[in-house]
Amino acid sequence: MNTASRETMAKARSQRRAAQVAVPEQLAPAATGLPVLGNVLDFRRDILRALRLGWDMHGDLVRHRLGPVTVYGVSSPALAGEVLTNSTVFGKLGPDNPLRLVLGDGLLTSSDHESWMRNRRMMQPIYTKQSISSMYDTMVACAEEMLKQLHSARCYGDALDMHKVMMRVTLDIVGRCMFSTHVQDSIDSISPDAIDIAVNYAFSRLQNPFSPPLSWPTPANRRFRNVMKDVDELMFRLIRERRRSGEHRQDLLDMLLSMRDADTGVGMTDKELRDEVITTFAAGHETTAITLTWTLYLLSRHPQVLRRLEAEVDQVLGGRLPTLEDMQRMPYSLQVFEESMRLYPSAPIVPRLTTTDTSLGGFRVPAGSRVLVNLYNIGRHGRHWPDPERFDPDRFSVEAKKQHHRYAYIPFGAGPHLCIGKHFALMEAQLLLIALVQHYEFRHVPTHRVVDVASITLRPRYGMLMTIHERRRDVAGSFE
Ligand code: HEM
Repeated sequence: MNTASRETMAKARSQRRAAQVAVPEQLAPAATGLPVLGNVLDFRRDILRALRLGWDMHGDLVRHRLGPVTVYGVSSPALAGEVLTNSTVFGKLGPDNPLRLVLGDGLLTSSDHESWMRNRRMMQPIYTKQSISSMYDTMVACAEEMLKQLHSARCYGDALDMHKVMMRVTLDIVGRCMFSTHVQDSIDSISPDAIDIAVNYAFSRLQNPFSPPLSWPTPANRRFRNVMKDVDELMFRLIRERRRSGEHRQDLLDMLLSMRDADTGVGMTDKELRDEVITTFAAGHETTAITLTWTLYLLSRHPQVLRRLEAEVDQVLGGRLPTLEDMQRMPYSLQVFEESMRLYPSAPIVPRLTTTDTSLGGFRVPAGSRVLVNLYNIGRHGRHWPDPERFDPDRFSVEAKKQHHRYAYIPFGAGPHLCIGKHFALMEAQLLLIALVQHYEFRHVPTHRVVDVASITLRPRYGMLMTIHERRRDVAGSFE
């Protein structure tokens, strides 16, 4: 029996199992909302606060109405595990997911289970720890360039928006890992944040079922279409040039081009490649940039954690940048990053769509409901995280981790759709954090307002204004 038929049979078995689950009659408690609109305005204003309010008032599973669409907020590790590990009942959003306007049928948004599985299986080997380690030198080169830019900024004494700085360096990293050459200029030639503009547009459509159709000539629709035209032209050009040249550069594009389906021996079309390349850009740069931004902010508010991190960095490295082996000897830097992601998960909400009537937490969830697994609430769940608002990287020591509920800490998701770029993100983030802390101290400008806001990612609404200072010298080691 070939792999495809084995999978079809397994899927049929699990569908039968799903159908046999007794579905209760009672629906989950509902959040209060307006007639007709329900909670649309609350979600548009601040989706995280709307979901938080529902959680505080009604518990771990709450029903929200967005006009004609019903949405369930899920805020406990156990329920999150149930949802994320059962992709037959809790599937990805359907073909009308507005994010597909940007990401097409890439891994993140593909609504066809079979083609997702085929592509995921082909791409998995690219993102193993071992394979990703070949990109470490590229990441180090980008980190060095970032340090040079920060050095000039420090000389001028300006406060910088560190969110923008982090966005730039992570875009540089994903761009160079994908295309090996420095594509920043090509990317800037379209619009410095073209992909972000497009993704934000798509997200606002996802949140608001009353958005005007894309064919209407509204200013937002026109801007979106123009941006996408530029992005598509650039991506197809870079893909076709590489195919034509036949060059091998050991970068992500090379790896994607050489993938073959194990059953058919067929590789990806240009359109499939375009979708995966844009998905990697969209999923792979802002997430890491945001976590680093929040980490710098938390460190600026917790000097004792910063000093301990600096001591580790100095003790292991002295003044040089870390090698891959060094990073394994710097567990505290990883713990700091992990604890930041608990409080500020950069992808705070993971959406699913129920394919059938089902039972969750003792309630009925009808087919066609949207289920939002809320990683922000789960990271602050009082039963799993004592004193949840406190920033304490010791929660992630080897011993402490053994006590965590399996799904209490899932910033990279869980189950079959677990983030494919997890190792890439962790390697990149740990390196950048170490490089930043090794050289500078970042102080949040006290008059600058910090508010988190969820679009697809959890951004600081007004950016993150920080001043850059030379490192204190009363800790071990030297750095210059
Ligand atoms: C701190 C950084 C990151 C975080 C917090 C993060 C988080 C996540 C989460 C929560 C998911 C699951 C989505 C779902 O279940 O629907 C996901 C999926 C995904 N991520 Fe990441 N991610 C990060 C970095 C990256 C990077 C660096 C890449 C690529 C280089 C990447 C590529 C992807 C892709 C392609 C998927 C879809 C996987 C699938 O459905 O098969 N991510 N990510």
